[in-house]
Amino acid sequence: MVKKKTTRRYESLRTLPEKEALKQMALELSDIDKIIDKYKKDKSSLIQVLLELQREFNWLSEEVLKRVSQKLDIPLTQIYHIATFYKAFSLEPRGRHSVSVCLGTACQVRGAPRLLDKVMETLKIRPGETSSDMRVSLDTVNCVGCCALGPVMVVDGEYCGKPSTKDIEQIATID
Ligand code: FES
Repeated sequence: MVKKKTTRRYESLRTLPEKEALKQMALELSDIDKIIDKYKKDKSSLIQVLLELQREFNWLSEEVLKRVSQKLDIPLTQIYHIATFYKAFSLEPRGRHSVSVCLGTACQVRGAPRLLDKVMETLKIRPGETSSDMRVSLDTVNCVGCCALGPVMVVDGEYCGKPSTKDIEQIATID
């Protein structure tokens, strides 16, 4: 059920020596530019650009948002407004994998609180947290539209209805 995620691993610049950090920054800047340039300075593509950057880096850092502002010539405040409005964007570093447990009414009735307890116990983090190795982030959601399958767990966008003990154990080892 759990697929290996191919998204590039985000490395925190703060943990690197200065020279390495500068090299990494230059690399990331060129990655950022590559994505933005695909949209040919089209301001109406802002959300698409942000979505792609979010997918690439797993979060939107201040540097990324400033670069988008500079290259698309959109005020930084407007970009922050969008980035904080949509749940798809994170302004904090996120894990390489995402696990969500649905706490909508139908899933609640079908045992979502017990499922969430098991997932928290397995990952050793609470909703809204990311594991210290940046491997996985845990969240709760309110109805993902497949109530009949409940309780539902979503791993890297893949829905898993009535997850078995094995399904839950698997999330402890995805890498
Ligand atoms: S309540 Fe969980 S999918 Fe609808």
